[in-house]
Order: sequence, then C-alpha cells, then structure tokens
Amino acid sequence: MSPRKRTDPGALPPPVTPERHAALHGPLLAWYDRNKRDLPWRRTRDPYAIWLSEVMLQQTQVATVIPYWERFLARFPTVKALAAAPLDDVLSGWKGLGYYTRARNLHRAAQEVVERFGGKFPATAEELITLPGFGRYTAGAVASIAFGEPAPIVDGNVARVLSRLFEVEGLPGDRDREATLWALATALVQGERPGDFNQALMEHGATTCRPESPLCLLCPVRDGCFAYRKGRVDELPPAKVRAAPRKLFLALAVWPHAGTLLFARRADKGLFGGLWELPAVEVEEETSEADATQRLSTTLGAALTLEGTLDSVRRQLTHRDLTLRLLRVSGGPRPTHSTAFQELRWCTPQEAEALGMSTAMQRALDAALGHGVMASEAPVAPAKKAPGRGRKATER
Ligand code: ADE
Repeated sequence: MSPRKRTDPGALPPPVTPERHAALHGPLLAWYDRNKRDLPWRRTRDPYAIWLSEVMLQQTQVATVIPYWERFLARFPTVKALAAAPLDDVLSGWKGLGYYTRARNLHRAAQEVVERFGGKFPATAEELITLPGFGRYTAGAVASIAFGEPAPIVDGNVARVLSRLFEVEGLPGDRDREATLWALATALVQGERPGDFNQALMEHGATTCRPESPLCLLCPVRDGCFAYRKGRVDELPPAKVRAAPRKLFLALAVWPHAGTLLFARRADKGLFGGLWELPAVEVEEETSEADATQRLSTTLGAALTLEGTLDSVRRQLTHRDLTLRLLRVSGGPRPTHSTAFQELRWCTPQEAEALGMSTAMQRALDAALGHGVMASEAPVAPAKKAPGRGRKATER
C-alpha cells in the first residue's frame, strides 16, 4: 500500500497513548487555572445558566454575550420561567443576538425539560442531546461543565487546537476529519475536571492557539504539538472556502395609520422565522417600486398606493447580503390578518419595541422613523386621496 499523502483527509493521526494524554491533559488544565478569563457563567454550576451561555456563545463573541446573558437571566431566571414565557417575550429578550432559531429552540427545550424531566435538567450528554437545539457540542458542554461528565466537545476553537496538536488533515466540514477530531476530544477529556478541560481547550484556542498569529511561544503544550514541530502551524487547519453570501432583496411596507405602523410576524420556518417585521416580500434587484408595491398589495390583501421610497438598509449576514427597500405606502382596507404571515398587528413605535425583531429589521424601522413617517402620515382608505396631492417622483 502506498503511504497516505499529507493532504489526505483520511490520514489518521496517531492515537492518544497514555503518555500523550498525560502530556496534554494536565498541562492544559494547569494553564487554564492560571489564565482563564473571569466570565460570569464560570461562577455558577447552574445547568440552565451554563446552557444559556453555550447557546449564546455559538456564533457570538464572549464580550458581546456577557450583557445579553445577564439580562436574559434576570428576565428568565430559571428553566421553568423560560418555559412559561410567551415565545414573543423570549424572542424580544434575544433581540440583537441574531440567529433566532437558537432562541426558539431554547424556548422549546425549556418546555421539554419541564414536561419530560419535571423541570430538572438531565445530567448526561445522552439525554441532553434529545432536547431541541442540542447537538453533540451543546450536550457535551452542558454535561461536562455543569455535571462533570467526561463528554467531549468540538467547536471551531477546539478543532483548530486538535488539528495542530495531532496534525489532523482535511478541510473543515470533511466527515473523516470531524470523526477524527471527536475521537481525539473523547480520548483527551477522560480524567480529572472534564468541564474545565473542555473549557481549557476552547480558551486555549480563543486566546493562544489563534487562527492568525498563534502565540506558540506562550503555549503550554508546544513541545507536544506535531504541527509546531514540523513548522506547519500556519497551514493547519486549512481555511474554509466560504460560498459568497447570496444577495437577497426585500421590499418593506411602511404603512402609517393613526400613530401606528403595520407589523407582521413571519412564518416559523426560514430566514428570520417567527420574528416581527415591517411586512416584507422578496423582490429582485431590478424589481420596480411599483411592482414591489403590487406584490405587497397581493400579500397583504389590500390595495396599496406607493407614497414614496425611503433609504434602503443593507445588512451583511453570514450567508446573505441583505437589502431592505423601504416603501412608504397607504391604502385599504387595513388588514388584520394575511395568509402569508402568522399574525398582523398595528402598533405604535413604542409598542413595537417589545416585538421580537431582527437587527436588520430594527435598523429599517429606525430608518423609517428617522424619516418622520409617523409625522407625515399619508391619508389612508377609506378616505379619498387629498385633491391635488402630487405623486412622488419615485412613483411610476
Ligand atoms: N466558547 C463557548 N463556550 C465557551 C466556554 N465555556 N469557554 C470559553 N469559550 C467558549
């Protein structure tokens, strides 16, 4: 058999011998004890609070998470309180963090903890993984940190640390590579203080074994790092090739009436699922304002007149390049429900603050309010258009 090439993702790293375990486990734990950041969720053993931190830390930086975590816990102090809260309150408590599926799963999982486990968190990764939103990572993190089970975790930081320590080949997302990393994490976490050990791996990746300019001279396990020995730290892991974000254009109805605006709650599935918005339809980049208004009319079941266009709001999401086009409209009859949305509501801007809305939509709303749409409210049906009122230049 020919020897495997260096870039072959199936190339197996050497197993974790007892000597290698000893060379990595103890020194990483000792390093963690000396260097760990003082984070609020590290001062508790409450599985609910730890779970919340882990969910928030997925895709959000530590510094951003801290105030959100504190506020969310103050508002929903226990898993029972979270389970009993209306979804709208939970989504509104999540406002600003993005990735709202996490909040919906959090809410559903809290309800299952109450219904299936009497409000007491299950203590094993095997049981935790049966809850909504719990993958292998979250189950391992809660089981190890809150309950001391030697359950492995692999997140982006851990994957990088292990790729370098064990010279694991393959691109992020490659199945053989992932299996190898989980096997290594499983072997390494055995032993004392599994929760701290997992956090040591994450912390080491976040602060020392960084993606760019890793601080190898400060690394407690440098001598045992295969990539360091071979001068391959900068090559491992190889950078993920990201697809270009898809462009998405939404036309938004800004429809003022008697001090209120029309808001709609999206279907649960898909982008911004379950969140509130200024009623939006997807359009193409080249769709005219008149056509966009027509689509909004059909969606809302109302005859809308375009009164003017406001600024567009652009927002870069991980997988989407979003452009929100704000169309100020009037019309009638004023709808109270639409099959395209879960719910419609006429709210004052103050009332809208309590709605769970994405940051992108909040920006769009702020832009609309900044243009004084409430002050210069357009006439709405059944009132006739004021005579002599000119059409805006943007209308066709
Ligand atoms: N990222 C996610 N969870 C973490 C934790 N508990 N410690 C450090 N970084 C993390």
